[in-house]
Amino acid sequence: MQQIHAVYFSPTGTTRKTCLTVAQTISEAFYLPLAVEDFTRPQKRVEPLVYGPKDLIVIGLPVYAGRLPNLLLPFLKTIRGEHTKAVPLVLFGNRNYDDALLELGLLLEEQGFELIAAAAFVGEHAFSRELGAGRPDRRDMKKIREFGTSVSEKLKENASPKRIWELLGEEERPLKPYYTPRDRKGNPINILKVKPKLDPAKCIGCGRCASLCPMGSIDPQDVSNIPGKCIKCGACEKGCPAGAIYFDDPGYLYHRSELEAQYTRRARISVFL
Ligand SMILES: Cc1cc2nc3c(=O)[nH]c(=O)nc-3n(C[C@H](O)[C@H](O)[C@H](O)COP(=O)(O)O)c2cc1C
Repeated sequence: MQQIHAVYFSPTGTTRKTCLTVAQTISEAFYLPLAVEDFTRPQKRVEPLVYGPKDLIVIGLPVYAGRLPNLLLPFLKTIRGEHTKAVPLVLFGNRNYDDALLELGLLLEEQGFELIAAAAFVGEHAFSRELGAGRPDRRDMKKIREFGTSVSEKLKENASPKRIWELLGEEERPLKPYYTPRDRKGNPINILKVKPKLDPAKCIGCGRCASLCPMGSIDPQDVSNIPGKCIKCGACEKGCPAGAIYFDDPGYLYHRSELEAQYTRRARISVFL
């Protein structure tokens, strides 16, 4: 091994914090340099990421609807390894990670990576400031560093890679479909087309929302105009220094309040070594 890479997509920064901490812990244990490949911005998803047998990647993705963010799949499928060691991580917003870690593990195996360990950590939910508020917090960070140390020990022991099924302790089965938000009667709530709104009285014209948008969907000349797709990642809303961005779609607001009411417990971290 010659280089450790932290590779991530992280619109609101929780995946970034986690992935960097794990990768840093491993790079320090081996006195190896750490490279960072942050593909949150669209301009970082132009060239494919290619790794060799002397690299180790710690790759982190947020969980969207119990799976990997589906609009990222075309780019994720261009990431290539050649017997490259990998540690897949997913970050979820205090509900559940469902099949996201499995999906990431399968994708990496398919694309030339060998899995050493995997984990699902918790971050503040993109839709809310209550759900998983402040996570990953100090307790989480301790566990995240401990995970990095355990991975380093496995690497030092030259432990053989495992298939994702074996790591997760599961029998092979098809991936579960995307999680669908529902109302109390069980009817699905479709928030796919929902976009945020801008309060012009509060907007200070800094353009931060347009530069933060991972889909490049906000018009920088007129930030009230969102011609592109919105993935509801929360980067613009949470990153706006003036609090000028908000959601008012009734389905979205209902789903947020249901999540906040149902998932008050502290979701647990899962590590697979
Ligand atoms: C469209 C969308 C769907 C989400 N679905 C889930 C989910 O199924 N389960 C969950 O626990 N969190 C879910 N979340 C919350 C994210 O997993 C969480 O906010 C994540 O920590 C954000 O990562 P980031 O800070 O790196 O952007 C969802 C967030 C978005 C934007």
